[in-house]
Amino acid sequence: MGKGPQEATGEDRKVQEKLRKSGEIPRHIAIIMDGNGRWAKKRGMPRIAGHTEGVESVRDIVEVCGQLGVQFLTLYAFSTENWKRPQEEVSLLMRLLLKAIRDETDRLHTNNVRLKAIGDIAALPREVQDELSDGIEKTQHNTGLTLALALSYSGRWEITEAVKRIAKDVSEHRVSAADITDGLIGSYLVTAGIPDPDLLVRTSGEFRISNFLLWQLAYTEIFITPKYWPSFRRDELYAAIRDYQGRERRFGMVSEQVHSPGPEQKSLLKSFIKSVTGP
Ligand code: FPP
Repeated sequence: MGKGPQEATGEDRKVQEKLRKSGEIPRHIAIIMDGNGRWAKKRGMPRIAGHTEGVESVRDIVEVCGQLGVQFLTLYAFSTENWKRPQEEVSLLMRLLLKAIRDETDRLHTNNVRLKAIGDIAALPREVQDELSDGIEKTQHNTGLTLALALSYSGRWEITEAVKRIAKDVSEHRVSAADITDGLIGSYLVTAGIPDPDLLVRTSGEFRISNFLLWQLAYTEIFITPKYWPSFRRDELYAAIRDYQGRERRFGMVSEQVHSPGPEQKSLLKSFIKSVTGP
């Protein structure tokens, strides 16, 4: 039996078909999942209830991205700064994460999803690391959506680590300083091999990047919604994609160059977009 995302049904299927026809589906969507605590507080519930409901949103968004043919979905699940939260919340979050990976790996696998983790994975509790590597190994040959979980991740941490490794390779003569280009830097980042995000979604109405994918977001379209993450479900994602389809991505050029380029501009544009988003 072929593997693939469970097909959308009924009205939802029609919405997805319409969305595919109305424009391009972003190849890579990155999401800052924010507002779990406020969602819970508004309902008089403990913060962890917001995180638990947030897992339901993760499940829905992963499913719909697979159905739409999104190739990469990167979720900011735990930042380097999140370690500073009260110890009780950190440990509950780690337990929730462990349970979510344990419970969801089989479903991800049947849906042809390839699991990845980006960040300082060695800083996570041993059992989370083990569960993650099992899930990554099991799904490594899947060819549908790549789901990258950013865990103990921050953009500055990632860039610092890359600089250290480049400096080491220069000092040991594996790389010459003259060879340092943005492409080379990209290949030292934890996202090497993943194209830059086309669309960044941030929930809970904050207008911040919060140390997420600082290098990779250079030309990404940003969509901010006031919805808290536990209330962000497929209809909100459809709205974000519709909004994205109405944007004009110029990559620093002018409108005419993007829309009616001459042969020289065409090839310039092609190689530039390739350098930004990957092959
Ligand atoms: C931000 O809300 C959310 C987090 C720090 C954690 C996100 C984690 C999950 C949704 C659960 C596990 C994820 C996966 C991938 C299975 P917040 O706590 O900062 O909310 P607030 O700003 O309202 O306080």
